[in-house]
Amino acid sequence: MAERRGAGSAGGKLILCGEHAVVYGHPAIAVAIDRGTTVRLREASGLTLRGGDGAALRDARLEEAVRAIVAGDWEVTITSDLPIGRGMGSSAALAVALVRAWADATGEALDAAALHERAFAVERVFHGNPSGIDHAVSARGGLVRYRRTPDGPVLTPLPLPSWSLAVLDSGAPGDTRAMVAGVASRRPGIDAHLDAIGALVGEAEAHLDDPPRLGALLTENHRLLTAIGVSSTRLDALVALALDAGAHGAKLAGAGGGGAALALADDPEGIVAAARAHGVDGFVVRPRPGV
Ligand code: PMV
Repeated sequence: MAERRGAGSAGGKLILCGEHAVVYGHPAIAVAIDRGTTVRLREASGLTLRGGDGAALRDARLEEAVRAIVAGDWEVTITSDLPIGRGMGSSAALAVALVRAWADATGEALDAAALHERAFAVERVFHGNPSGIDHAVSARGGLVRYRRTPDGPVLTPLPLPSWSLAVLDSGAPGDTRAMVAGVASRRPGIDAHLDAIGALVGEAEAHLDDPPRLGALLTENHRLLTAIGVSSTRLDALVALALDAGAHGAKLAGAGGGGAALALADDPEGIVAAARAHGVDGFVVRPRPGV
C-alpha cells in the first residue's frame, strides 16, 4: 500500500479587542493575520515531531497535543513563522493545521463544526479552558466578532479592514493558561472592568474603518487590561512607545504578562522603525482574508 501523507495550513491571529472578557461571554474582535503554520504528516514507524528545519522537537505538551488528533505512527513536520507565546495564535494555528492535515491524510470529510471541535481538543492541551476565539479565527480567516454562548460559539464575519497592524515584541513569552487563571482568581472584584471591555468591543465594531476612533478604543482596552492585572511594565512601555511614535492606539495582544503589543497607525512600518531604534523587535502584519 502507498505510504500515506497529508498536509494542512492555518493562519495566526491577533485579538483586536476583548481578550479575557471573552472567556466570560463578552464579545471580542479578532483578525486573522498573514503569518501561519503548516503541518505535514508522513506515515512512519513511531511518532516523530520535527520543526521546519528537520530537527526533532522533544516537548511533552506538543506531543500530547499532536496525540489529541493523530493516531498511529507518523512523522509530523511543523513549519511556522508565528513567534510562540506572543498572543499571535501559534497554538491555534497548529491545532487547525494539524486537524486539516489529519483529514487530508485519512481522507475524512471535515466540516467547519468538526474542525472547530477537534481543534478545541488541541487548544485545551495548551491552554486549559480557552474561549475558542483563537482557533475559530485561525480556521475562518478574516476579521471576526466572536462570542461564547451556552449553545456554542457565535462567529460573525466583519468586513476585511484596509489597515495593517504593527506588532512590538516584549521579548518574553506570555503564559495564557496562567494569565487566564489569574483573571479568574481576581473575580468578582474585576467584573466591572470585564463588563467595560465588553461594551468597548461593541463600540469598536461601529468604528472599524475609522482608525483614529478605533485606535483610541484600543488604548482604552489596554488601560482596562492593565486594571484587570494582565499587563506588565514592559507592555505598558511598548504601548507608550507606539503612541509616542504616532500610533492612533495600542494595546497588549492576547493573554498578556509577556507576549506582544499591537499598534494601529497610518504608517505601521514607521512604528516598527521607531521601536527598532529603541532596541525593540517588531514587524507589520496584514489581515488574512476569510475562507
Ligand atoms: O492565546 P492568547 O495569548 O491570544 O490569549 C487568548 C485570549 C484570552 O482571552 C486571554 C483567552 C481565551 O481563551 O480567550
